[in-house]
Amino acid sequence: MQIYLDSSATTAPRFEVIELVNKILVEGWGNPSSLHSWGERAAITLEKARWQVADLINADDGESIIFTSGGTEADNLAIFGVTSNYSEPQHIIISSVEHSAIENSVATLETKGWQVTRLTVNREGRVNPEDLKNSLQPNTVLVSIIYGQSEIGTIQPIETLAKITKNHSQALFHTDAVQVVGHLSVDVSALGVDLLSLSGHKFYSIQGAGALYVKKGVNLQPIQQGGGQEHRLRSGTQALPAIAALGLASSLAQQELESESLRLRELRDYLIELITSECSYLSLTGDKYHRLPHHGSFILNHSSSQITGRKIVRDLSLAGIAISAGSACNSGTSLPSKVLLAMGYSEQESIKGIRISLDRTTTKEDLQWTVMVLRQILS
Ligand SMILES: Cc1ncc(COP(=O)(O)O)c(C=O)c1O
Repeated sequence: MQIYLDSSATTAPRFEVIELVNKILVEGWGNPSSLHSWGERAAITLEKARWQVADLINADDGESIIFTSGGTEADNLAIFGVTSNYSEPQHIIISSVEHSAIENSVATLETKGWQVTRLTVNREGRVNPEDLKNSLQPNTVLVSIIYGQSEIGTIQPIETLAKITKNHSQALFHTDAVQVVGHLSVDVSALGVDLLSLSGHKFYSIQGAGALYVKKGVNLQPIQQGGGQEHRLRSGTQALPAIAALGLASSLAQQELESESLRLRELRDYLIELITSECSYLSLTGDKYHRLPHHGSFILNHSSSQITGRKIVRDLSLAGIAISAGSACNSGTSLPSKVLLAMGYSEQESIKGIRISLDRTTTKEDLQWTVMVLRQILS
């Protein structure tokens, strides 16, 4: 039996997406910038995808969607695109539980003299909006707060945080919504954000395409130079198959969003209940209520330093079950999770986190089997 429970790392592409990618590779592989009919066909495919993505997040027009290679590039474009507007270092605010695409970008700026405030989080991984208000300065140019945390599933009050930023400063507001888009309804106007990152492979598209939403009037500098594609913000021939796939996955996600997010939420709560009642060594991490619908994360309450999150992942893998220890991008190392440390867990505890993330194929039986195997491993 093979059970995949690592959708926060990546998702299996939908059948319709694979079919479309095939079709484009065979018939629609032109360069969207070319003037002949191959190029025209490619440009139509590209613009359709732009509108499909814009629709999913309720952006006013396709022009506000800049295609990138994924979430990491979208995050980098947001951070360096905004900060490159300034010749002198200024001030940025992020949270202490950002994905490394934001944290490491901002750390690079810090070495160049930028001042960075990292908002602390509570035991559930939520920032306090008052802290944001008190941290804004006259020279704050950007606030970037993750929407749904990949490792612990906690959702931040983005609408409130964006409003505080607007009401008390001139700063732009960016959110990394890579774990949220495609799983929860997102409306960039209602949220009041200037910039938002998303990534196709987190919601049943293929790897290699994501996007940065850029609100009309927001001024960004490109981070790479070249032919000026994507409204001069992201030079390079667009990865058409992956972008078309992202467009289709966006439309399909939109159609199913309400029912699927409800279904996943119920399954997630079932999983949390099952684990906390049957595996006494495991307790929930992150916020129980403000939580991604497809996300369960737990920490092992056991003093042995031999039993780490990575060990549990390896043992479950031997039984054909795929989960993750912390975020995918950190699971190659056994360092304590920075996210758990930021939430107040000790170094010893912070190597004992696991993440179980569900997808559109997950059933109750998958979860029952997984918890049964988990219990055996822990006992
Ligand atoms: C919150 C978050 N931001 C950014 C990324 C990076 O996205 P990508 O893998 O598309 O580069 C991830 C990937 O796990 C993520 O979870």
